[in-house]
Amino acid sequence: MYKNTIELNHPLIQHKVTLLRDINTNHKDFREIINEISGLMMYEATRNLELEYIEIQTPLEKMSSPILKGKAPLIVPILRAGLGMVERMLEAMPHAKVGHIGVYRNEETFEPVYYFCKLPKDAAERNAFVVDPMLATGGSANFAIDYLKKKGVGNITLMCILAAPEGVRKVEEVHPDVKIVVCKIDRELNNHRYILPGLGDAGDRIFGTK
Ligand code: PRP
Ligand code: URA
Repeated sequence: MYKNTIELNHPLIQHKVTLLRDINTNHKDFREIINEISGLMMYEATRNLELEYIEIQTPLEKMSSPILKGKAPLIVPILRAGLGMVERMLEAMPHAKVGHIGVYRNEETFEPVYYFCKLPKDAAERNAFVVDPMLATGGSANFAIDYLKKKGVGNITLMCILAAPEGVRKVEEVHPDVKIVVCKIDRELNNHRYILPGLGDAGDRIFGTK
């Protein structure tokens, strides 16, 4: 049904997603769980990173052993909520660079509004992981991916915790080359383009702004 999208059905992830959805989960726990899930998502999201072989000496003998090829990846959180996913990803890829892109959704038109971007100069030479807990209409993710492509970034994976079917279809249609990794594709969007059943406003729940 979806071409480039992987929905993670691992029990640990589904358990943690339930905790995130719960209105009784407080900001501190919400932030921690977002990070825990992001760490688990990494295994699938980074599955296609290229390896090369180097000669090493173990305490017992010489061997040819794999290491990651090329420059360390680039993590690109979409501000604000994407910031919540970065910490655990950096634990898994400590040499990764982090580029930030600021896009918020106009709550009347639902169109993305750009306000900030800072990328490393050599972004185009790196595999990029665009991260945002929520993929609703797909407008913000498509904007961020377009922006990176204009800067020459060629290999892009989008990681989102919850997605709406509309958003997944939109990103797949506009960017068929992008791999999408999500924990759960929910039922639909409501009239305010919030994901149902969803978890509410991810940015507000991470940062306690409501
Ligand atoms: C949320 C979310 C995504 C976007 C998803 O951010 O974190 O970036 O909405 O919606 P879309 O797929 O319809 O574009 P928001 O605009 O609320 O900004 P914030 O993270 O600063 O709260
Ligand atoms: N942004 C959010 O934070 N939540 C939604 O459900 C949709 C957009």
